Formats: sequence, C-alpha cells, structure tokens
Amino acid sequence: MGRTRFSSGEVMSETAAVILAAGLGRRMQSSIPKVLHRVAGRPMVQYVIQAAREAGVERIVVVLGHGADAVRQALDGDCESVVQPEPAGTADALARAAPILTASPDCRQVLVAYGDCPLLTGDLFRSVIEAQRQAGAAIALVSSIVEDPRGYGRIVRDPDGGVRAIVEEAAATEAERAIREVNAGVYCFDAAWLWERLPSVPRSTSGEYYLTDLVGLAAQDGRRVCAVTAPLEITAGVNDRKQLAMAEAVIRDRVRQRLLEAGVTLVDPATVYVDATVRIAPDTILYPGTLIEGNTVIGPGCRIGPYSRIVDSWLGSSVTVDMSVIEGARVGDGTRIGPFSHLRPGAEIGPRVELGNYAEIKNARIGADTRIHHVSYIGDAEIGERVNVGAGTITVNFDSESGTKHRTVVQDGASLGSDSMLVAPVTIGRDALTGAGAVVTRDVEPGMVVVGVPARPLRRRRQSAG
Ligand code: UD1
Ligand code: CA
Repeated sequence: MGRTRFSSGEVMSETAAVILAAGLGRRMQSSIPKVLHRVAGRPMVQYVIQAAREAGVERIVVVLGHGADAVRQALDGDCESVVQPEPAGTADALARAAPILTASPDCRQVLVAYGDCPLLTGDLFRSVIEAQRQAGAAIALVSSIVEDPRGYGRIVRDPDGGVRAIVEEAAATEAERAIREVNAGVYCFDAAWLWERLPSVPRSTSGEYYLTDLVGLAAQDGRRVCAVTAPLEITAGVNDRKQLAMAEAVIRDRVRQRLLEAGVTLVDPATVYVDATVRIAPDTILYPGTLIEGNTVIGPGCRIGPYSRIVDSWLGSSVTVDMSVIEGARVGDGTRIGPFSHLRPGAEIGPRVELGNYAEIKNARIGADTRIHHVSYIGDAEIGERVNVGAGTITVNFDSESGTKHRTVVQDGASLGSDSMLVAPVTIGRDALTGAGAVVTRDVEPGMVVVGVPARPLRRRRQSAG
C-alpha cells in the first residue's frame, strides 16, 4: 500500500495528536492550571494545538485533568478531549486517549506533545512525524542539547548511537545526570505498537507511570527509536515562573519578527510588546514603549506610541495614538488620540475625531470630525458629528442617590463651552451652544444658546458658515 506523501499544508489523516495537559503544575505556585498560564497573551496549550494544526494533523485529543473545565474552554472547538481523573503520570495520561484513537483503525501514527511547551512549531512536528514514517520506528522523539539539563529526562544512547532509554532526573545515576542531551517531550509513535505496549509501562518508584519508559520497551522489542534534534528555543518546557518568563521572551520576539516581515515598522523592537493574538496592517509604525494586547486589530498607516497601551480594540487606518490607553474601543480612520487620553470599553470613535489631552471616553459614541481637545469626561453618551467639546466639559452621568447612570445626547454641530456640566439624562439639540460654566439640567432646543447655573436659554445661535 503506497503511503501518501505529504507536503506543507496537506492534511495528514493517518496521524492523530495527543496533547497532555492534565498535570497540576505545582512548580508554578499557582491556583491556575499550568497550561492556562499565558505567553504573549495566549494560554500555553493553544500554541501546542496551533503547531499541530500547522503540521496538518487533523485529529487532536487533549488530555485534561486539573482544572479540566477551565482548560476545555481554552481549546478550539475542533479539539477532542478526554479526562485523566488522577495525575498518575504521562503514560497514564496518554492511555486515556487510547479508547477513542484505537477505535479508528486508519490512525497509524500518534504524535504526542506536552501542553506546557509553548515554543513548539509545526515544522518540528512535521519532521518527527516524517522521521518515524521513514525509519518505520516504534518511536521517533525529539531531543535537545542543553547547557543545563536539570529538570529534563536524559537521553541514554547505545555505543552505536541508537537511543536506548530516557532516564528521568529522579532516577538518574550521577553519570546519567551529566548527560546534556535531554528529552524534549515530543514523540511520534507507530500507533499499533504504542497501543499494544502502553499497558506494559511499569509503575516508577515515584508511583507514576512515565511515558518515557516506552523507549526502553521499544529497545526490548528490538524496534527502532530514532531522534530528531532541535534547539531549546523550540523545545523548552515551562515548569516554573522563570521558564514562563523565558518562553515569553522567545514568543514576543517571534511576534516582532512576524510584524517586521509583514510591513510594520518597530522603531525600537525591544520596547514594543505585542500579543500573539494581535493583527496589524502594513505601514503602521509602533513607537517605543508600546503594548498591544488581546484581540486588537490595527489598520494600515497608523502611528502608535510612544508609551501607549491598546487592549481588545479595533483601529481603522491612519489613526494616531500618542501616550494613551485604549481598552475595548473602536476608532475610525484618521482619528488622532492623545497625548494622555483614556478610551474605555464601549468607546466608539468616528473618523477624523480629535481627542486631546486628558480626554476620557467610556461607553460613548463620538461622531465624525468632533473635537474633544482638553480635559473632558464623556461617559454613557452619544455625541454627534462636528461637535466642539470645550475644555473641562463633563457628562454628569452618575446619579449617586439612585446609583444609576443616565445618557447624554449631543446632536450634530453643537458647541459646548468650557466647563459645561451636562447633567444626564439630557439632550443638547443640533447646533445648540452652551456658555462657559453652564450646568445643563434640561434639554436644550436645536440652535439655542444656554448659559448659567442652571443653564437657561439666552437667544438663538448665530451660525457661522461651515
Ligand atoms: C517531562 C518528561 C521529561 C521531559 C520533559 C520535557 C516524563 C515522565 N518526563 O517531564 O522526560 O524532559 O517533560 O519538557 O514524561 N501530565 C499529565 N498527566 C500527568 C502528568 C503530566 O497530563 O499525570 C502533563 C502535564 O500537564 C504536562 C506534561 O504532561 O503538560 C508534562 O508533565 P510534567 O510534569 O511537566 O513533566 P516534566 O517533569 O516536565
Ligand atoms: Ca514540563
């Protein structure tokens, strides 16, 4: 039977992946399941799933245990999951996937990886899958040569170079501990051999069943075990916060490289922090000290920073953001923000708006060409187009007696004098004007000028052309 050759992007239906993610992660000193700790804004386990997808693996089974419900929520809808009720070791975890994978006879290869290795790539998975296939090996595994092998299983080789065993650190002799070739925890198994031999893995002195003991069993069976070597920048596992910080640095750098290749300018890459989940269009410039997080999308030709933070927001094209914080907001084309503006969730800013020094906008729509240049708070409001918001204008939206918030509406073309207090609920009509220091407690008719405390109509507004 000629096996299908595969090339980049092709789906491999003979290969299933099992990702082990049931462990507690005690060394993290955390109440959060280890694989949910974030690296560049994304839970670790998602990177491993993504790498398997990039390798073309169709069927992905994630083994859950500690915090199963929370971890399941972080998986994409196409993953299957099984539960390991007790953390009895990596071999026991893999065995939990056996019932569903042995049920499909066309699954000939099983790729296994750990959910705490966020740096893994699709290319590495491909090469270990290919190595197993070409050698007809019982196991192809990935090893790394490291300066400091502490915490990893050591690869013990025969004099002829074949892999004889993996020895976990706790069980290693002095001589074995000195071995600098370590087990990366990525394996591709001959499926039939794996499911037959997995139940024979012995209980270790620690009481756990180690997946790594399969290597010794293959040697006993006279079956080949081959190794693919990859650097720690791809294989490193995360067991504690130090390793988490190291993984973070690697992923952040990969994101920077991806942005540069995609036509985004980073003036000083080392000071720009962009989550792996962010999308940025070409010809946008990121100035130093800029953080872009979550599900943020930024259009082309924007100038972001210096010293700005953008979280879960959408920015159109040619937007300028200078020393400002934007969270959960949408910003239209050509709008200028900052310095020192704060856009909070629900802020929807139209095109060509100018938000100046110390403008805070929350849960409010701001129409096209409106200017809010200095020291304003606009909350729970609907501001029209071409509105001029004078310095110090505030929507008084919170009724502290009832504890409720009320809406303010300012219609197109209105002009709010400096220090206007708009006591909500209130509507300022189209082209109306409020005098400096007006405290507006009642609706203002279109075109009317109001002044004073509380504001009273004075006269009709003389409209300047345009
Ligand atoms: C493991 C390997 C070690 C290798 C290292 C690479 C074993 C026995 N040891 O050690 O050889 O060098 O990874 O990073 O495999 N898990 C479960 N159920 C369990 C135990 C663990 O699902 O009962 C999961 C964990 O969630 C984790 C992964 O398996 O994602 C690895 O477990 P961990 O305890 O981190 O193993 P290491 O000590 O790092
Ligand atoms: Ca680990």
